[in-house]
Amino acid sequence: MTATKGLEGIVAAKSSISSIIDGVLTYQGINIDELAEKASFEEVVYLLWHGKLPNQSELDELIAQLGEYASVPAEVIAGLRLYPKNANSMAALRTAVSSLALYDAEANDMSSEANYRKAVKLQAQLPTIVAAFARIREGKDPVAPKKGVGIAHNFLYMLTGEEPAPVAIQAMDKALVLHADHELNASTFSSRVTVATLSDIYSGVTSAIGTLKGPLHGGANEAVMIMLDEIGSLENVEPYIQNKLDNKVKIMGFGHRVYKNGDPRAKHLMQMSRQLGELKGDMTLYEMSIKIEALVTGQKGLKPNVDFYSASCYTMLGIPRDLFTPIFAISRVSGWTAHILEQYEDNRLIRPRAEYVGPVDQHYVPLSQRG
Ligand SMILES: CC(C)(COP(=O)(O)OP(=O)(O)OC[C@H]1O[C@@H](n2cnc3c(N)ncnc32)[C@H](O)[C@@H]1OP(=O)(O)O)[C@@H](O)C(=O)NCCC(=O)NCCS
Repeated sequence: MTATKGLEGIVAAKSSISSIIDGVLTYQGINIDELAEKASFEEVVYLLWHGKLPNQSELDELIAQLGEYASVPAEVIAGLRLYPKNANSMAALRTAVSSLALYDAEANDMSSEANYRKAVKLQAQLPTIVAAFARIREGKDPVAPKKGVGIAHNFLYMLTGEEPAPVAIQAMDKALVLHADHELNASTFSSRVTVATLSDIYSGVTSAIGTLKGPLHGGANEAVMIMLDEIGSLENVEPYIQNKLDNKVKIMGFGHRVYKNGDPRAKHLMQMSRQLGELKGDMTLYEMSIKIEALVTGQKGLKPNVDFYSASCYTMLGIPRDLFTPIFAISRVSGWTAHILEQYEDNRLIRPRAEYVGPVDQHYVPLSQRG
């Protein structure tokens, strides 16, 4: 038995939800480039859950259901008020999502109807929780979700308490589409491992949020913004990045386990970053990002991933940097739940082996004889 570090190249599940083949990402066989330009996030959610794009009445029904479930139980909001104001936003989201199960009477109902309903609830409630936590820690009251609008619109509205500009809704919607699913990424894998024990969907999504939090996965978008803030100016890009490269420090937002010739999502976010900069009349973040890319790609051959340009986009949308990874979760919960439902459909416990590299032929030494 020989271990493969990081399970690189190991095919661990069959899935018909999304694929990465020759560097091309598809959701249910549709190229992400096409979806990024044409689809709404709700259409993508339906596509991931049902394997086909919705017709008008199916889409209307999904939007209505999402609206119906978007309110979060009062006990969960009361819980958010008890969290430390400086709590890590992903830790807060993880805890709040876990607590949702306590107030859902069908949390442990494993019928496919109940599991689908819980997927809709989770998709509807994550944006409400993230927006509510962001407001509560600033001493503000949460804003109740609106009915009949999409998730991007509702999230920005609940976050600010104001009607968002159409351009902001469009940008957020596209970012959600681009983050929705990504084959067997680390957080999706952890959600499948959890539910493959026949544990409930809330446990699966809670595992996934904990996994997404790390800076090698979803946490990279916040880490990119921390870096941009540290750099501070266009002139400082070169010395800052050169110093990191010389000292072999990883540059966040670059590199990928699967894509070696570039992440197909990055170009959409780069365009969005440029457009938002033009609209704002301030190209600094975009230009800094372009310069970083030129240096890192030029010297290391590493290309930006989905997290790199999303950092400048979200900042230009006025979103605090520690909400970037929770926003990733608001989108990726669509993929997690699609994978969880797929796992339940044809389940087998996921239990790999380890290559043992510890000592052998040891014996118990009584406590009194140990040095
Ligand atoms: C995404 C990531 C975790 C993939 O990791 P991986 O497949 O295990 O690849 P490794 O970490 O083993 O990297 C392979 C080599 O490339 C280098 N490398 C990878 N990403 C790098 C980065 N962002 N900056 C600088 N060097 C990097 C590693 O140092 C390593 O070099 P070495 O062989 O000389 O030691 C990795 O590229 C990374 O940490 N990127 C930054 C975090 C990030 O943006 N994550 C979001 C992913 S969507």
